[in-house]
Amino acid sequence: MSRPNTLEHHWMPFTANRDFKKSPRMIVRGEGMYYWNDRGDKLVDGVAGLFTCAAGHGRREIAEAVGRQMMELDYCAPFQFGQPKSFELASRVAALTPENLDRVFFTCSGSEAVETAMKVALAYHRARGQGQRTRFVGRERAYHGVNFGGISIGGMVRNRDSFGVGLPGIAHLRHTHLPQNRLVPGQGDFGADLADDLQRLVDLHGADTIAACFVEPIAGSTGILVPPKGYLERLRAICDKHGILLVFDEVITGFGRTGSAFGAQTFGVTPDMMTMAKAITNGNIPMGALACRDEIYETLTEASPEGAIELFHGYTYSAHPVACAAGLATLDIYRDEDLFARGKAKSPGFLERVFSLKDLPQVVDIRGFGLLAGIDLAPSERPGKRGYAVLNAAFQEGLVLRVTMDTIILSPALIAEDEHFDRIVEVLRKVIAAS
Ligand SMILES: Cc1ncc(COP(=O)(O)O)c(C=O)c1O
Repeated sequence: MSRPNTLEHHWMPFTANRDFKKSPRMIVRGEGMYYWNDRGDKLVDGVAGLFTCAAGHGRREIAEAVGRQMMELDYCAPFQFGQPKSFELASRVAALTPENLDRVFFTCSGSEAVETAMKVALAYHRARGQGQRTRFVGRERAYHGVNFGGISIGGMVRNRDSFGVGLPGIAHLRHTHLPQNRLVPGQGDFGADLADDLQRLVDLHGADTIAACFVEPIAGSTGILVPPKGYLERLRAICDKHGILLVFDEVITGFGRTGSAFGAQTFGVTPDMMTMAKAITNGNIPMGALACRDEIYETLTEASPEGAIELFHGYTYSAHPVACAAGLATLDIYRDEDLFARGKAKSPGFLERVFSLKDLPQVVDIRGFGLLAGIDLAPSERPGKRGYAVLNAAFQEGLVLRVTMDTIILSPALIAEDEHFDRIVEVLRKVIAAS
C-alpha cells in the first residue's frame, strides 16, 4: 500500500506530529503477532496494538461477526430502545467480572468508562442521602484517560499542565514505584503502607466528603507499576471502613493481561466498580464499559419513580451493535482458546527474558507481571530522548513498542509464543545497547 499524498491534515494524538510527518512509522497490515510497514517489512508487535489486541491481529471471527452485524442491524439508538447483543454481551462480561459486579454500562472508550464511574459514584451517594461525598481520590502516576475527570484523578502531570485546569476536590495517593522493589519481578515486598495515604486523606478531609478512590491494579501507562504485596487489600479495608467506593480501572489489566479475567481476581481484591475497554473487542471496534456492584445499580434505579429515566448519562454509541458483535466474537475467542490461562502460562518465560536485559548499563529498573513489563532507561541529554530513540530504532529493526518518556512498555498478545519473546528481547538488547 502506498503512502498518502500528504500527511499534513491529520493531527495525530499523543504524537510528535512534526517528527512523525518527516519520518513516518506507517503500519499497513496486521496478522497474529505481526505488523507490516509500508515498505513491506514485518514487525513483531510487542504491545498488542495498545494493550488492545489480546487475541492477535486480523482475527477473521471478529471481522465476520462485525460484517454480519452491519448487514443485520447497523445502528439503533441506545436510549429507550435496545438490541439483543448488548444484553448478551453484558451477561458475558458479568460472567467474567468478580461476583456481584454484574451490572454493565457500555461506553465507547476507557476515558468515557472512567467519567461514567465518577458520575455513578456521585449519583449513588446522592441517592443514599450522602450528596456531600463529592471528593475523589486518585494516585500519582495514574492514567485514567484524557477527559477532564480522568486527567484530574490521574497523576500524569503532562496530561494536565498544558491545559492549566483540572477538576477541584481531588486528592492523590503517592505512587507505588519504590526503589526497594527495584528489579523484582511480580509484586514487591515493600510499600503496602503506601495505602495508608488514603487514611491520611480521610483524616484531612473527612471520610464523609470522599465519594470514591480510583486506582489501576497495575499502573500501565506510566511504566507497569505493580502493586506491592498487601497494598490493594489495605486500600480495600480503608474504603470499607469509611464507605468510600473503590474503583479499579482495568482498561489495561482486563481480559487476561494479568493471568485472570481481571486484575481484581489476580490480586484477590474486589472493587465496587471496574472500568474496562481495549481488549473487550480485541481493539477492533471502539468500546468501553463500567461494571458495578448490583447494589449500586439497585440503589440508583430504585431512587427514581417507575417509568422515569434513572441515570441521565449515556453516549450515542453506547452499546453500539457493531461493537457488541465484536465484543461477543472476542469473548468467544478468549473462551475457546483459553487465552487467559494461556497468557498466565506464558508469563514466567516472558518475564525471564525481559529481566535478562538488566545487565545493560542503560537499564535502571525492570518491572513485570503477567504479560506486562516496564523497562526504565537512564535518561540521556533530556528526559524522553533515549526512549524516543529506542522506539524509532526498534521500529527500524522490526519491533513495535510503547514508550513513555524513558520507559519501555511491553504487553504482547496472549497468543504470543516464546519465539516472539526471544525476538522482542533480541531487538531490545541491540537498540538499547546502541542508545
Ligand atoms: C488505565 C486506563 N484507563 C483509561 C484509559 C483511557 O482509555 P481510552 O484511550 O480508550 O479512552 C487508558 C488508556 O490507555 C488506560 O490505560
